[in-house]
Amino acid sequence: MKFFIDTANLEQIKEAQALGVLDGVTTNPSLMAKEGITGKANILKHYQDICALVEGDVSAEVIATDYATMISEGEELAALHPQIVVKLPMIKDGIKACKYFSDKGIRTNVTLVFSAGQALLAAKAGATYVSPFLGRLDDISTDGMHLISEIRLIYDNYNFSTQILSASVRNTMHVINCAKIGSDVMTGPLSAISGLLKHPLTDSGLAQFLADYQKGN
Ligand code: E4P
Repeated sequence: MKFFIDTANLEQIKEAQALGVLDGVTTNPSLMAKEGITGKANILKHYQDICALVEGDVSAEVIATDYATMISEGEELAALHPQIVVKLPMIKDGIKACKYFSDKGIRTNVTLVFSAGQALLAAKAGATYVSPFLGRLDDISTDGMHLISEIRLIYDNYNFSTQILSASVRNTMHVINCAKIGSDVMTGPLSAISGLLKHPLTDSGLAQFLADYQKGN
Protein backbone atom coordinates (compact mmCIF):
# COMPACT_ATOMS: atom_id res chain seq x y z
CA MET A 1 0.00 0.00 0.00
CA LYS A 2 1.33 3.42 -0.94
CA PHE A 3 1.55 6.06 1.82
CA PHE A 4 0.59 9.62 0.90
CA ILE A 5 0.68 12.45 3.42
CA ASP A 6 -2.39 14.67 3.51
CA THR A 7 -0.96 18.11 4.16
CA ALA A 8 0.43 21.24 2.53
CA ASN A 9 2.88 21.74 5.41
CA LEU A 10 6.40 21.52 4.01
CA GLU A 11 8.03 20.59 7.35
CA GLN A 12 5.66 17.65 7.84
CA ILE A 13 6.22 16.53 4.25
CA LYS A 14 10.00 16.67 4.86
CA GLU A 15 9.65 14.65 8.07
CA ALA A 16 7.59 11.92 6.35
CA GLN A 17 10.00 11.90 3.41
CA ALA A 18 12.97 11.52 5.77
CA LEU A 19 11.37 8.38 7.22
CA GLY A 20 11.80 6.85 3.78
CA VAL A 21 8.28 5.50 3.40
CA LEU A 22 6.50 8.37 1.64
CA ASP A 23 4.99 7.74 -1.80
CA GLY A 24 3.22 11.04 -2.43
CA VAL A 25 1.23 14.00 -1.15
CA THR A 26 -2.42 15.03 -1.27
CA THR A 27 -3.58 18.57 -0.73
CA ASN A 28 -6.93 20.33 -0.84
CA PRO A 29 -7.99 23.99 -0.68
CA SER A 30 -8.58 23.76 3.09
CA LEU A 31 -5.09 22.37 3.71
CA MET A 32 -3.54 25.13 1.56
CA ALA A 33 -5.52 27.79 3.45
CA LYS A 34 -4.39 26.27 6.77
CA GLU A 35 -0.78 26.96 5.74
CA GLY A 36 -1.68 30.52 4.74
CA ILE A 37 -1.05 29.86 1.04
CA THR A 38 -3.29 32.25 -0.86
CA GLY A 39 -3.28 33.86 -4.31
CA LYS A 40 -2.79 31.95 -7.55
CA ALA A 41 0.95 32.57 -7.92
CA ASN A 42 1.69 31.47 -4.35
CA ILE A 43 -0.52 28.40 -4.69
CA LEU A 44 1.19 27.28 -7.92
CA LYS A 45 4.63 27.88 -6.41
CA HIS A 46 3.70 25.88 -3.34
CA TYR A 47 2.76 22.87 -5.50
CA GLN A 48 6.17 23.14 -7.18
CA ASP A 49 7.88 23.33 -3.78
CA ILE A 50 6.06 20.17 -2.68
CA CYS A 51 7.05 18.38 -5.91
CA ALA A 52 10.69 19.27 -5.24
CA LEU A 53 10.52 17.60 -1.80
CA VAL A 54 9.03 14.23 -2.80
CA GLU A 55 9.42 11.75 -5.64
CA GLY A 56 5.79 10.59 -5.89
CA ASP A 57 2.46 11.95 -7.01
CA VAL A 58 1.21 15.30 -5.70
CA SER A 59 -2.54 15.93 -5.92
CA ALA A 60 -3.48 19.54 -6.71
CA GLU A 61 -7.18 20.38 -6.61
CA VAL A 62 -9.06 22.57 -9.07
CA ILE A 63 -11.26 25.30 -7.63
CA ALA A 64 -13.62 25.55 -10.62
CA THR A 65 -16.92 23.68 -10.62
CA ASP A 66 -17.80 24.10 -14.31
CA TYR A 67 -16.38 21.90 -17.06
CA ALA A 68 -14.64 24.57 -19.18
CA THR A 69 -12.86 26.22 -16.26
CA MET A 70 -11.95 22.85 -14.74
CA ILE A 71 -10.23 21.94 -18.01
CA SER A 72 -8.18 25.14 -18.22
CA GLU A 73 -7.32 25.05 -14.51
CA GLY A 74 -6.44 21.34 -14.62
CA GLU A 75 -4.24 21.78 -17.69
CA GLU A 76 -2.38 24.60 -15.96
CA LEU A 77 -1.85 22.47 -12.86
CA ALA A 78 -0.71 19.43 -14.89
CA ALA A 79 1.78 21.58 -16.82
CA LEU A 80 3.39 22.73 -13.54
CA HIS A 81 5.28 19.48 -12.91
CA PRO A 82 5.17 15.84 -14.10
CA GLN A 83 4.33 14.69 -10.55
CA ILE A 84 1.10 16.69 -10.42
CA VAL A 85 -2.18 14.76 -10.40
CA VAL A 86 -5.26 16.89 -11.13
CA LYS A 87 -7.76 16.56 -8.31
CA LEU A 88 -11.39 16.94 -9.36
CA PRO A 89 -14.56 17.03 -7.25
CA MET A 90 -17.08 14.21 -7.63
CA ILE A 91 -19.72 16.26 -9.45
CA LYS A 92 -21.12 15.96 -12.98
CA ASP A 93 -18.63 18.36 -14.56
CA GLY A 94 -15.84 16.78 -12.52
CA ILE A 95 -16.59 13.39 -14.07
CA LYS A 96 -16.74 14.92 -17.56
CA ALA A 97 -13.40 16.62 -16.91
CA CYS A 98 -11.98 13.34 -15.58
CA LYS A 99 -12.85 11.62 -18.88
CA TYR A 100 -11.29 14.50 -20.83
CA PHE A 101 -8.03 14.35 -18.86
CA SER A 102 -7.95 10.56 -18.94
CA ASP A 103 -8.26 10.59 -22.76
CA LYS A 104 -5.38 13.10 -22.86
CA GLY A 105 -3.16 11.00 -20.59
CA ILE A 106 -3.32 13.52 -17.73
CA ARG A 107 -3.61 11.80 -14.36
CA THR A 108 -6.57 12.53 -12.08
CA ASN A 109 -7.79 12.05 -8.53
CA VAL A 110 -11.57 12.18 -8.09
CA THR A 111 -12.20 13.53 -4.60
CA LEU A 112 -15.09 13.85 -2.15
CA VAL A 113 -16.32 10.32 -2.87
CA PHE A 114 -18.80 8.96 -0.34
CA SER A 115 -20.56 6.10 -2.14
CA ALA A 116 -19.74 3.00 -4.19
CA GLY A 117 -21.79 4.40 -7.08
CA GLN A 118 -19.65 7.53 -7.19
CA ALA A 119 -16.50 5.37 -7.17
CA LEU A 120 -17.86 3.27 -10.04
CA LEU A 121 -18.52 6.42 -12.11
CA ALA A 122 -15.02 7.74 -11.41
CA ALA A 123 -13.48 4.45 -12.59
CA LYS A 124 -15.65 4.47 -15.73
CA ALA A 125 -14.38 8.00 -16.45
CA GLY A 126 -10.79 6.72 -16.26
CA ALA A 127 -9.72 8.26 -12.95
CA THR A 128 -6.16 7.40 -11.91
CA TYR A 129 -7.19 7.62 -8.25
CA VAL A 130 -10.52 7.69 -6.45
CA SER A 131 -10.61 9.27 -2.98
CA PRO A 132 -13.29 7.87 -0.65
CA PHE A 133 -13.32 9.95 2.57
CA LEU A 134 -13.59 7.28 5.23
CA GLY A 135 -13.01 9.50 8.28
CA ARG A 136 -15.79 11.89 7.32
CA LEU A 137 -18.19 8.94 6.98
CA ASP A 138 -17.15 7.74 10.43
CA ASP A 139 -17.82 11.30 11.67
CA ILE A 140 -21.51 10.88 10.77
CA SER A 141 -21.77 7.38 12.30
CA THR A 142 -21.47 5.59 8.96
CA ASP A 143 -18.91 2.82 8.46
CA GLY A 144 -16.26 4.42 6.27
CA MET A 145 -14.23 1.23 6.07
CA HIS A 146 -17.22 -0.63 4.62
CA LEU A 147 -17.16 1.78 1.67
CA ILE A 148 -13.50 0.93 1.00
CA SER A 149 -14.44 -2.80 0.94
CA GLU A 150 -17.31 -2.18 -1.47
CA ILE A 151 -15.10 -0.22 -3.87
CA ARG A 152 -12.36 -2.90 -3.67
CA LEU A 153 -14.93 -5.60 -4.60
CA ILE A 154 -16.38 -3.61 -7.51
CA TYR A 155 -12.98 -2.65 -8.95
CA ASP A 156 -11.71 -6.23 -8.66
CA ASN A 157 -14.88 -7.59 -10.34
CA TYR A 158 -14.05 -5.62 -13.49
CA ASN A 159 -10.29 -5.16 -13.22
CA PHE A 160 -10.59 -1.38 -13.13
CA SER A 161 -7.13 0.17 -13.04
CA THR A 162 -8.32 3.14 -10.92
CA GLN A 163 -6.43 3.08 -7.63
CA ILE A 164 -8.33 3.33 -4.37
CA LEU A 165 -6.80 6.24 -2.44
CA SER A 166 -8.39 5.93 0.99
CA ALA A 167 -8.64 9.51 2.21
CA SER A 168 -9.68 11.28 5.37
CA VAL A 169 -7.62 8.69 7.23
CA ARG A 170 -7.33 9.90 10.81
CA ASN A 171 -5.46 7.25 12.80
CA THR A 172 -3.29 4.14 12.71
CA MET A 173 -6.25 1.73 12.85
CA HIS A 174 -7.61 3.34 9.68
CA VAL A 175 -4.23 2.69 8.03
CA ILE A 176 -4.11 -0.95 9.17
CA ASN A 177 -7.72 -1.64 8.13
CA CYS A 178 -7.11 -0.05 4.72
CA ALA A 179 -4.13 -2.37 4.27
CA LYS A 180 -6.21 -5.41 5.29
CA ILE A 181 -8.89 -4.54 2.74
CA GLY A 182 -6.35 -3.95 -0.02
CA SER A 183 -6.63 -0.20 -0.53
CA ASP A 184 -3.97 0.79 -3.08
CA VAL A 185 -3.06 4.01 -1.26
CA MET A 186 -3.89 5.76 1.97
CA THR A 187 -3.55 9.45 2.70
CA GLY A 188 -3.51 10.82 6.21
CA PRO A 189 -1.73 13.16 8.61
CA LEU A 190 1.87 12.60 9.71
CA SER A 191 0.55 11.26 13.05
CA ALA A 192 -1.20 8.35 11.28
CA ILE A 193 2.10 7.36 9.64
CA SER A 194 4.48 7.92 12.56
CA GLY A 195 1.96 6.32 14.96
CA LEU A 196 2.64 3.00 13.23
CA LEU A 197 6.12 3.05 14.79
CA LYS A 198 4.85 2.84 18.32
CA HIS A 199 4.50 -0.18 20.59
CA PRO A 200 5.22 -0.19 24.35
CA LEU A 201 6.82 -3.67 24.12
CA THR A 202 9.27 -2.33 21.53
CA ASP A 203 10.25 0.49 23.92
CA SER A 204 10.58 -1.72 27.01
CA GLY A 205 12.33 -4.48 25.03
CA LEU A 206 14.89 -2.05 23.64
CA ALA A 207 15.47 -0.51 27.08
CA GLN A 208 16.17 -4.01 28.45
CA PHE A 209 18.55 -4.90 25.58
CA LEU A 210 20.51 -1.70 26.10
CA ALA A 211 20.62 -2.14 29.89
CA ASP A 212 21.91 -5.72 29.53
CA TYR A 213 24.56 -4.57 27.06
CA GLN A 214 25.70 -1.85 29.48
CA LYS A 215 26.17 -4.41 32.27
CA GLY A 216 28.89 -6.25 30.35
CA ASN A 217 30.43 -3.39 28.39
C1 E4P B 1 -8.16 13.90 0.68
O1 E4P B 1 -7.57 14.06 -0.35
C2 E4P B 1 -8.53 14.96 1.60
O2 E4P B 1 -7.59 15.99 1.47
C3 E4P B 1 -8.50 14.55 3.02
O3 E4P B 1 -8.08 13.23 3.21
C4 E4P B 1 -9.65 14.97 3.84
O4 E4P B 1 -9.41 14.61 5.18
P1 E4P B 1 -10.21 15.22 6.39
O5 E4P B 1 -11.58 14.61 6.37
O6 E4P B 1 -9.45 14.79 7.60
O7 E4P B 1 -10.26 16.70 6.20
